[in-house]
Amino acid sequence: MTANRRPLIAGNWKMNGRGDDGLVLALQLAERMKAKKGATFDILVCPPFTLIYGVGQALDDSGVGLGAQDCHAIESGAYTGDVSAAMLADLGCAYVIVGHSERRAGHAEINSLVRAKAEAAHAAGLIAIICIGETEAERDAGKTLDVVKDQLSGSLPDGAGAANTVVAYEPVWAIGTGRTPTNDEVQEVHAFIRAELTARFGPSEAQGLRILYGGSMNPNNARELLALSDVDGGLIGGASLRCEDFWSIAQSCP
Ligand code: 13P
Repeated sequence: MTANRRPLIAGNWKMNGRGDDGLVLALQLAERMKAKKGATFDILVCPPFTLIYGVGQALDDSGVGLGAQDCHAIESGAYTGDVSAAMLADLGCAYVIVGHSERRAGHAEINSLVRAKAEAAHAAGLIAIICIGETEAERDAGKTLDVVKDQLSGSLPDGAGAANTVVAYEPVWAIGTGRTPTNDEVQEVHAFIRAELTARFGPSEAQGLRILYGGSMNPNNARELLALSDVDGGLIGGASLRCEDFWSIAQSCP
C-alpha cells in the first residue's frame, strides 16, 4: 500500500445469504461504518443478485459500497437468466466483480468474455473488479507469472484505468482453503501486475490502480498482507460473511 492509493476492502458473499441474514449483516456493517469517523479505507459488499436491492436499502448512506458478483456483457435483450451491468447500476451498485475463478471454471468464462463484461461495466458507469490468478498446478509448474500476464492482457479492456478498474489477484488454490502464498510471493505477483499495468496503461494509471489480494484472507493474516507495498486491499469471501471478521480485516488497513 502506498499513500496515493486508498485501500479497498471488498466482501464477496458468493452464493450465500437469504433474506434476513444478509440484511442483518448489511445493517451491522452500516452501523460500524457510520460510527467510524474519517475512515481511511473504502469498503463494499457484493451480495448475490437476490439481495442487492435489500442490502442497498440497509446500507443506505453509511459509506459501505454496493457491488455485484457478475454481469452480462450486453446491455439488454433476450438473455434468459442474465443480469446486465446497466441493471446493476440501476439498483445502486457502484462495482461489479468479473472473471472470478469460480465463474471461469464453472461457467467456462474465458478472457475475451471477461473483457467484454468489464467493458459493459465501464459503459454502465460501474467499477469493474477484474479477477485473475493461477491454479495450483500452474503454480507448481512455475507458470504463475505467465498465467497472470496472459489473464491481465486478455481480460482488461483498453479503456481500463485507475478510476474504473480494480484488479484482484486470487490464486485459485488459496480460495476457501485456509492456505495463502507467502508474503514475498504475494508481493512478487502484485509488483509484476503493476509492472504489466505500467507497460500497458502508463505509470500514472498504474500507480493509481488498486490491486487487491484474495484467497483465505482473515483477521489473522490481513495486517501483514495489507502492509505489502503493492497490495491495496482485499477481496474476501468466507470472512466477509461475519461482520466481526470483515470489520477486523478493514481495521487492519495500514
Ligand atoms: P475466501 O476468502 O473464502 O478464500 O474467498 C476468496 C474469494 O474468492 C473472494 O472472491
